[in-house]
Amino acid sequence: MVLRACRTVVAPGALPVIGHAWPLMRRPLQFAQSLSGQGDLVEVRLGPVRAQVPCHPELLWRVLTDDRVFDKGGPFFDRVRATIGNGVGSCPYGEHRRQRRLIQPSFHPARLERYAAVMEQEAAALTENWRDWRDGRVIDVYQALFGAALRTVLRTLFAAQAADAVVDRFRGPVETVLHQLTARMFVPPSLQRLPLPVNRRFDRAVDDLRQGIGDLVAELRRGGTDRGDLLSALIAARDDEDGPGSGLEDDEIHDQVLTMVVAGSDSVAAAVSWALYLLDGHPRVRDQLEREVDTVLAGRPARGGDVAGLPCTGRVIIEALRLYPPGWLFTRVTTAETELGGHHLPSGTTVAFCAPAVHRRQGVYDRPEVFDPERWLPERARTLPRGAFAAFGGGARKCAGEDYALAESTLLLSTITSRCRLRLAPGSDARPVALSTALRPRRLLMEVSSRQGRTK
Ligand code: HEM
Repeated sequence: MVLRACRTVVAPGALPVIGHAWPLMRRPLQFAQSLSGQGDLVEVRLGPVRAQVPCHPELLWRVLTDDRVFDKGGPFFDRVRATIGNGVGSCPYGEHRRQRRLIQPSFHPARLERYAAVMEQEAAALTENWRDWRDGRVIDVYQALFGAALRTVLRTLFAAQAADAVVDRFRGPVETVLHQLTARMFVPPSLQRLPLPVNRRFDRAVDDLRQGIGDLVAELRRGGTDRGDLLSALIAARDDEDGPGSGLEDDEIHDQVLTMVVAGSDSVAAAVSWALYLLDGHPRVRDQLEREVDTVLAGRPARGGDVAGLPCTGRVIIEALRLYPPGWLFTRVTTAETELGGHHLPSGTTVAFCAPAVHRRQGVYDRPEVFDPERWLPERARTLPRGAFAAFGGGARKCAGEDYALAESTLLLSTITSRCRLRLAPGSDARPVALSTALRPRRLLMEVSSRQGRTK
């Protein structure tokens, strides 16, 4: 594709005040896909804010990798900072490299091995019940996976804590924050400060989370030993580039922990939910996946060491992430006058990072609407342009939890496939909900049947 120098196209259908909020929230994927048919850079209105959406992989790549000019900001990150703070995911460019150096050891492969032990326990526990049920029992798949993913992120963050007590304390507030954060992007800040029940609930949830994290940090500091969990790694982190032995302050640790909880729970649950939904509609892919899982696992739950030997499972997850990227709408703001795809952007321009506008673009992918995990076979994936796959972002601000998330999703999907088969049940509504932080199915009811006896 050739980049053209022309005026930015404005997406049709904007309403006064709310702009494109209605189609974005009601039919987010169709709306995003429709943008790519209108140009390489298309203007949408996020509430009252005009935002430029790159629909061409090269333009998206530039936005993601030139993070000095396309800095975190705009309606999404302004709201994130106001609520969950200034952690590594939301801080501006000037603070980012230091924060990233300090959190990076938390995701070192040696630590990931320990986290994988928690992931495999949670995947096994989740499917233990399902397997024992009589065939035909219906479960709400996203809700079940959200519980498992939240338990996993909390247990990997706070290893020595009584898991059930921590999960009980955090689940309600985490859900409230996740459900409102994206929606707040469309609501003017003045309305968010009104003493309405919805605002009070949100503020209370943020306070409860901060208090809960504060108690856990204080407890770990009193104990003083590295327990192999994420919180220990954050407390122990030192960055000599910023002065000898400088580490994270307590309030910075709070912000990082909140970032991990928010970034690491519903995203994984949504990814695995979409994979299970897609597999049900594609029996040939499902058979292929079951063959791989049966050969490697022979009916047992997956373990951390199995992940590398499950390439078909990995491709199913990546393809589900392409079609339904959980993190589907983020914002940036330009810190200087710049040019993007032949368009002049003044300093202060809002740019939206909307992965489905590229992931579902005709011409970037062959038959983009089709679920085809084999497009991720190395020889085919190699031909894709940079910026074509952005489910984890890109550049210096790429998801810090990518390996963590892929390991967890692979362990969940392979363990579920090893033990059960899930079929869509009546009453399901698989339309994506855009209002929560992760794009997830509205109500994914699936009937479980045990695969025990069918596996080798
Ligand atoms: C399938 C699951 C996940 C997806 C699709 C995902 C996606 C993303 C995306 C798109 C970004 C970049 C946002 C932007 O550029 O504005 C991001 C950042 C981030 N994610 Fe994830 N994420 C997932 C799971 C996780 C998990 C499990 C963790 C941690 C336990 C995590 C931690 C982070 C952090 C810390 C950042 C900020 C990185 C930085 O700015 O340096 N994510 N994620």
